[in-house]
Amino acid sequence: MHAGLLLILYNLSFWGGRHSAASEAGLLSPQKTILTLTRHHRYTEKESIQGACVNPFICFDAVQFTYPPLEGDTDENGNQIIPKPVFYNFSAELPAGAVHLTGPNASGKSTFMLLAAGRLHPERGSVRLFGSDTARLSPEQLQEYASFIYQNMEFETAQPAAELLAYVYANGFFSGNTPAIDSNTYRSLHEEVISVFELEPVLAHRLTELSKGEIQRVLLAFSFLYGSKSIFMDEPLFALEQYQKERALSYIRSYAKQKQVPIYLSMHELELTRRFAELVMLFYPDRTIDLGTPDEVLTQSALEKAYGVPLAMLKDAEKLTRENLKETAAVLSAQ
Ligand SMILES: Nc1ncnc2c1ncn2[C@@H]1O[C@H](COP(=O)(O)OP(=O)(O)O)[C@@H](O)[C@H]1O
Ligand SMILES: [Mg+2]
Repeated sequence: MHAGLLLILYNLSFWGGRHSAASEAGLLSPQKTILTLTRHHRYTEKESIQGACVNPFICFDAVQFTYPPLEGDTDENGNQIIPKPVFYNFSAELPAGAVHLTGPNASGKSTFMLLAAGRLHPERGSVRLFGSDTARLSPEQLQEYASFIYQNMEFETAQPAAELLAYVYANGFFSGNTPAIDSNTYRSLHEEVISVFELEPVLAHRLTELSKGEIQRVLLAFSFLYGSKSIFMDEPLFALEQYQKERALSYIRSYAKQKQVPIYLSMHELELTRRFAELVMLFYPDRTIDLGTPDEVLTQSALEKAYGVPLAMLKDAEKLTRENLKETAAVLSAQ
């Protein structure tokens, strides 16, 4: 296989984690679908719930995870700072669906997804994905269980986008043959993602020639065409135009439902999450997480607590972040 392509498949679906790498018992009974949740659940750190995950998509059981100390990270006495665990004795059961992760920076969203998708492994406890311990999955199985769109993925490949898209579709788990989500309009999923993500103009281009927003749209297309049983996306939309974000989020929701593929993605735009998330995980700096529908979770008091600022300021901050990201994207695409 072409080396560049291998890199893409590797990046999309497998990350050789540096560490080997969360349900409150009975929170989500297997008889209930996520849509029937009527109140939100607050996950905190608690005792092991071994065996309590009945039929979950993701199950964290007494998970502890700590990043290794960073070189040069020292206190005023020159002593190495030992990082605190990002997750400490964390147990949680997470459902399928289109789930948005939101919350302030450094609250653990990326780490949560990396652990859930088996790209990182806990130092204590275990993570099960579709019932299998992620630490025991082979690289091939991991690819089948979960695709991962990393933040800031980079590519070195000379092949044009069209070839890569066709390759990912043909060699992924759909074997190049699965109906489109809107099968009245499109003959295949392949044709559909090219249209939905407006890839026609970049099909002949190499990934190295694309703008950040174009790369993000190609990555989304890859993840849908590859056909893993679940997809994790770390801030996958920030460089897109507003209408493209809305279109992508709507597609994500339909895909998750129709293909029965859970999709977890982190986002910084609360208004979009309110409109497009089936469920939300709100990460607090104190390592607790709320899970529920957008209306249940994204209340003024919860958001003020999570971000530590009044809501009005938060809205300003969101606008600023958006403008900032747009500028960054413009700089990147000009390079
Ligand atoms: N590669 C890393 N090495 C060391 N510490 C990290 C690394 N990635 C994240 N962290 C730390 O782990 C904590 C959680 O980070 P992260 O999961 O990236 O949060 P979020 O995605 O919500 O911004 C933060 O304190 C962050 O500084
Ligand atoms: Mg992150």
